[in-house]
Amino acid sequence: YKRITTKSLIEMKAHGEKISMLTAYDYTMAKIVDTAGVDVILVGDSASNVMAGHETTLPITLDQMIYHASSVVRAISRSLVVVDLPFGSYQSDPKEALRSAIRIMKESGAHALKLEGGSEIKESVKRILHAGIPVMGHLGLTPQSIYKFGSYTVRAKEDEEAEKLMEDAKLLEKIGCFGIVLEKIPADLAQRVAESVSIPIIGIGAGGGVDGQVLVIHDMLGMNNEFSPRFLRRYMNLYEGMTTAIGQYVTDVKSKDFPNANEQY
Ligand code: KIV
Ligand code: NA
Repeated sequence: YKRITTKSLIEMKAHGEKISMLTAYDYTMAKIVDTAGVDVILVGDSASNVMAGHETTLPITLDQMIYHASSVVRAISRSLVVVDLPFGSYQSDPKEALRSAIRIMKESGAHALKLEGGSEIKESVKRILHAGIPVMGHLGLTPQSIYKFGSYTVRAKEDEEAEKLMEDAKLLEKIGCFGIVLEKIPADLAQRVAESVSIPIIGIGAGGGVDGQVLVIHDMLGMNNEFSPRFLRRYMNLYEGMTTAIGQYVTDVKSKDFPNANEQY
C-alpha cells in the first residue's frame, strides 16, 4: 500500500494481514513512525497524559487535539491519521459532535476520527459518518469514562458487560464505522468480536486474536518507566538511554569538554 486508507485496512483484515498502529502527537515523532511503516497513526487523547502530564485524558481540549493532529499530518506520507475526539467535545448532542468533528478535519487535515462508546453515542457517530468523515469506535476500557469505572482494570469480564460490548461492536459496524479499538478486555472476547464483524478490530491489551495492535509510542519506546501494564511490550529503554545521554552532556559542559575545537566557528 502506497497510502493507507480506511479501505486498505478493511482489505488487510479480509486477507488476514495484521494492522500496525501507534500513537504520535508531534511532527518529529510522526515522521519516524510513518517512515518505519506503521499503517495507522493515532493522535490519541493520551496526549493529555504523555505530552501534558495530566493524570487522565479528560482535561485535553479540542484546540489542543487540533494542534497535535496538524503537527502529525504535516509529517506523514503513507500512514492513515486517526484523531481522538476529546472528552466534552461530542457527548452533549450530535450537532456538537459533528461541529467538533468538522473542526478537526478542516483545521488539521486528518483522515479519520475515533470516539469512545457504543449505543450511547450512536446518533453522533451517524451524524459524523453522514458528513463523509470516517469514524473508528473504541470499546472496553474507555479512559474518558475512568470515573465511572473507578480504576484502569480489565473490562467486560462479566457476561453482561461482554454482551453489551459485542452488541456495540455489531452496531458500530452496522452504522458504518471502518474499525474499532478494543482496550483491555479478555483475549477470548476480543477474538469473538473480531470474528463477528468484518471491520478491523485493533486491540490494546486485548490479545492476539484481533486484526491489529495499537500502543502508546512513549510506552513501547520505554520513555516512561512508571507505567508497566501486562499488555505492554517495551522495544527500547529510552528513559535510560536519554537520561544517560543528557547526563553525559551535563558532564561535558561542566568539564569544558563540550564544545571542542571542531565544534565551534
Ligand atoms: O489515546 C490513545 O492513545 C488511545 C489508544 C490507547 C487506543 O486511545
Ligand atoms: Na484515546
